[in-house]
Amino acid sequence: MPCELKPRFLVLYGSQKGQAQSIAEGIADEAEERGLFADICCLSEGHKVKLSKTKYSPVVFVVSTTGDGDPPDTAQKFVKRIKKKTLPRDLYAHLCYAFLALGDTNYADFCKCGKTIDSRLLDLGAKHFYATGHADDGVGLELVVSSNETPESSATDIKLHLLTTDNTGTALKLDSVVSERKSVLTTQSGQTGAPPAVVEASLTRSLPPLSELALNIPALPPPYLDVMLQEATIEEETNAPVSKETLHEVPISRAVQLTRDDSVKTALLIEIDISSHPMAYQPGDSLDVLCPNRASEVGELLRRLGLEDQKSNRIQLSLRKETKKKTAQIPSYIPENSTLHYLLTWSLEIRTVPKKAFLRSLVECTGDSGEKRRLQELCSKQGSADYNLYVRDHNLGLLDLLTAFPACQPPLSLLIEHLPKLQPRPYSAASSSLRHPGRLHFVFNIIEFPACAGRPVGRRGLCTGWLSDLVDPILVHPGKAQSSSTPALPKVSRGNCSFRLPSDLSKPFIMIGPGTGVAPFIGFLQQREKEREENPEVEFSETWLFFGCRHRDRDFLFREELQGFVANGTLTHLKVSFSRDTPEGTETQTETGPRYVQHNLLSHAKDIVNLLLKENGYLYVCGDAKNMAKDVNDTLIEMVSAELQLDKLDAMKRLAGLREEKRYLQDIWS
Ligand code: 2AM
Repeated sequence: MPCELKPRFLVLYGSQKGQAQSIAEGIADEAEERGLFADICCLSEGHKVKLSKTKYSPVVFVVSTTGDGDPPDTAQKFVKRIKKKTLPRDLYAHLCYAFLALGDTNYADFCKCGKTIDSRLLDLGAKHFYATGHADDGVGLELVVSSNETPESSATDIKLHLLTTDNTGTALKLDSVVSERKSVLTTQSGQTGAPPAVVEASLTRSLPPLSELALNIPALPPPYLDVMLQEATIEEETNAPVSKETLHEVPISRAVQLTRDDSVKTALLIEIDISSHPMAYQPGDSLDVLCPNRASEVGELLRRLGLEDQKSNRIQLSLRKETKKKTAQIPSYIPENSTLHYLLTWSLEIRTVPKKAFLRSLVECTGDSGEKRRLQELCSKQGSADYNLYVRDHNLGLLDLLTAFPACQPPLSLLIEHLPKLQPRPYSAASSSLRHPGRLHFVFNIIEFPACAGRPVGRRGLCTGWLSDLVDPILVHPGKAQSSSTPALPKVSRGNCSFRLPSDLSKPFIMIGPGTGVAPFIGFLQQREKEREENPEVEFSETWLFFGCRHRDRDFLFREELQGFVANGTLTHLKVSFSRDTPEGTETQTETGPRYVQHNLLSHAKDIVNLLLKENGYLYVCGDAKNMAKDVNDTLIEMVSAELQLDKLDAMKRLAGLREEKRYLQDIWS
């Protein structure tokens, strides 16, 4: 039976980093513009709304997923509440709702939190008035994926669109606009291999067929901030970018290059001295590092905005009086008493890939008709493939776009409205405090973004580049003597993690961590080594590590330490695969060996499946989410299926069971 829709509706969101909140606010704002009345509320405040008795109908949910398929902090209590088995089956029979779940297909349990809430609402009698949308951060949240599709069809774009069916505001409809992104991308993708000059022309030049189309351009987001720059003296250093209680400035006590100079990637280990800070950690925990935007990029942005001579002026923000954006507020992460230079250095993620709404606003900031047209195309529905190909996939930032569109001159208010908060970057601890009291190690590859369309010169990742500059004077690496410079003081805080060693010392565990994914396992093994020393009477279980790198001699991270763990029995099985060593390049002529960690896994399928499913072992995977973790998971399915004579679906269920029991844990990144 179709549900009757009433004019006033509610948007409920559960957000971790603010994306779900911002989408929810967008829905509420758009609804208001269309003559509807929308209220908006965070799920953490959901009890105030009393969904079980609410007169709101419909309700729109926007909920993200975090960590290992967990609810965002703001939705945890709500999830707990609705999961209670004693709730009456018709608790929400009065409720009409639509659900937008956010997730990332690079991780297991895509949109798990949204799916859990959605199915529980249905169990409790609520009805959909629109099919649930699953938005994938892996391909861009803006392209919302239909729930009816299989994961493979994540290329099918379904953009949820809020529309009123009439102007009186008596009905609300979520309309879907479906486009086959896959086919567009396939036709475009041939161009990625073209020389930079050709590709560059395509970033700023319209494609002929596209320019003949009437473009479907999103509505212009209403500006809501006024910015004043006051001449005032401010001690910039007195401002804290985030709360001082959680953020510590810690000395770097050691830095080591783990890879040889001729390795394609450079991996560094940094040791920080946490002895004077309350930062107790367990192996497997992560560390958040807050780094500033690059001084040269901040300077370039100031110059490009024509604000160089006002960089020491104090920023004053206020809401525009005429703003229609109901949810508009001054971003809480911008310190009240800060200079423009400080704002661009510590508050805003200036390298973020501009979203389409930002591009839409930039259209209004250029007087050049060619630029206008191309920006319109890039933010239009028809230009989705180009946006992905030239902007998103290449990680172009605002500065890159402003260079490509020289006539575009956005006001500062637009940057503050559209650029997100500068986020700390998490790194896994690569040490145990039992072995290194008062010290914490972490490891990373220096990320390189090559030159491409719109970025004539390559650049390094923000945080890894910054850390590498920071430690350069004290870096120990082949061919370079350590200098006696004063160690730098990065700002760090402890992150959360459920990636922990089994508490039962007799349980076997298997670690899979190619490249810098080995980091937490070094912490695990240091811990286990100490536990063995301290508990000689205990019979410890088997421990396996599958490590992978390109070359035995160039990027075999922690080689000596790992071999030491094997020698003293801490690590019972070390299986290493070299993806680029030819027989000639290897130490033993006969060794061609498995290429990747999963090939090694497959050769030990019997042991691994036995340890996991018969001996209740634990499995840990750390490293690249996009390819490695997926391929490893596929291999595990294959192994379980072959060893236990199960079909693929049942093998998947067995692995899902392991995840549920927190015996298959991942710490992965894309
Ligand atoms: P490659 O760079 O030679 O392709 C650490 O980065 C190691 O992981 C490298 O040897 C890398 O190999 C390998 N690697 C790349 N893709 C992988 C995948 N899909 N699964 C497992 N290992 C992978």
